[in-house]
Amino acid sequence: MPTYAVPPIDPMSIRLEGTDRLVPEGPVLTRRLSDLEGLFAREDLRAAGAAGEDPIVYTVSSSPVPELPRELPQSITTIRPGTIGGEFHMTKGHQHPDPQGEIYLGLRGVGGLLMFDGQDTRWIDMSEGVIGYIPPGWAHRSVNVGDEDYSFLAVYPGSAGHDYQWVLDHGMGRRVMSSAGGHELVAYTAPTTSQG
Ligand SMILES: [Fe+2]
Repeated sequence: MPTYAVPPIDPMSIRLEGTDRLVPEGPVLTRRLSDLEGLFAREDLRAAGAAGEDPIVYTVSSSPVPELPRELPQSITTIRPGTIGGEFHMTKGHQHPDPQGEIYLGLRGVGGLLMFDGQDTRWIDMSEGVIGYIPPGWAHRSVNVGDEDYSFLAVYPGSAGHDYQWVLDHGMGRRVMSSAGGHELVAYTAPTTSQG
């Protein structure tokens, strides 16, 4: 027998409020520099920033649709512009413990979708109206490569889950750095220590 959400979810209309929020709104997540330990190449600079103003790097506004099997939750992620040691602001990135696909729809700003399957890395340029498709088995991270907020809508199977440790253990294959031409993907380097 299928398992349904308890209490059951009724058919519903969900509205974009601007490009930052879903209404009605479910859980909201705020990720600050202090939440991104071990992800940027310059861990020393990240730790220094986290010990200071500890700025918000990104927010995630979810709809009320629960992360349960057979449901199809949605969220809007907004990444603020900025760099840490030349590396663009980014999400933590995750792998789906239950390998299932996902789509991202660009809403505002200029960003990218970095994917890594443990061997190969792929990059999709994202902007308003672009759908990035994440096939099963590819870890995924979003990066803001512009100078304004980058927002996108995610739609994903409710049973997919979020394995953040996988990215800490395996990296994402490349790092996305600021360059004279805008951005460039460079070889992955392990983070510096916060003392180094
Ligand atoms: Fe995902």
